[in-house]
Amino acid sequence: MQKDISQFVSACIDFIRGIEIKSPADGFRYSVIVPGAKYSPWLNHDVFVAAHMAIKANTIVDVYRCYELWKLVEQCARLGGDILEVGVWRGGTGCLMALKSKLMGSHSRVFLCDTFSGVVKAGEMDSTYSGGEHDNTSVDIVVKAKEALALDNVEILVGVFPDETAGRVGDAVFSLCHIDVDVYDSARDVLEWVWPRLQVGGAVVFDDYGFVETDGVTRLVNELTGVPSALIIHNLNGHAVMVKTAAATSLLPR
Ligand SMILES: C[S@@+](CC[C@H](N)C(=O)[O-])C[C@H]1O[C@@H](n2cnc3c(N)ncnc32)[C@H](O)[C@@H]1O
Repeated sequence: MQKDISQFVSACIDFIRGIEIKSPADGFRYSVIVPGAKYSPWLNHDVFVAAHMAIKANTIVDVYRCYELWKLVEQCARLGGDILEVGVWRGGTGCLMALKSKLMGSHSRVFLCDTFSGVVKAGEMDSTYSGGEHDNTSVDIVVKAKEALALDNVEILVGVFPDETAGRVGDAVFSLCHIDVDVYDSARDVLEWVWPRLQVGGAVVFDDYGFVETDGVTRLVNELTGVPSALIIHNLNGHAVMVKTAAATSLLPR
């Protein structure tokens, strides 16, 4: 019986894997991606499961990416430094990272930055977004999410980052930065700001890498491939993870 089910699942996966998806962006091809690996460590990680249940209603990020953020908080903590998230929406991923950091006994601050009026800086590099998306949130929703988890390590910065709110961060250095802003220019501006402030060995996680609607972020990360002082990992779950491998002040040619 078990063997029959496994064969049936494999046949379904073979059937859907590789089906091409129509793309609105020139030059990019998309298909249904189903990795073959089955290892799912989050399933018997009780603390993560409980944390994920607590934030699930406040995020549009799936459990695979949530677990990756959780594990990166754990691994980057030894570097020292704060955590930055730009693109908070209702606070799901931000509070998840803050909770993991707190549970580890870390003294890191977790900066959660959002306009709370939706996506900004959509432009010609983005084929789907036009600005204002994800405005169905509020500071109050994130404050409530933070209070429900008794998080005392979170600072909420309201406004366009870095343009309007980076000044409130002071001279912080960071071990981890989660960029979840959906469009090219915003993602690029956040990266340029954080890169000189990121610890060597620290990571920038780009959400939105590879989704059909957020091709601007895919474009940006592809442009970055090969820059000195960084290693970029294309994770099939919709994350690109960029690890800083050497000290550097600037990153991108304009
Ligand atoms: C997809 S949502 C974030 C999802 C969230 N991480 C979660 O857990 O579901 C993208 C958010 O990015 C915000 N945003 C985009 N560009 C921004 C910028 N430059 N500064 C601040 N917020 C920005 C938008 O307001 C929106 O709330």
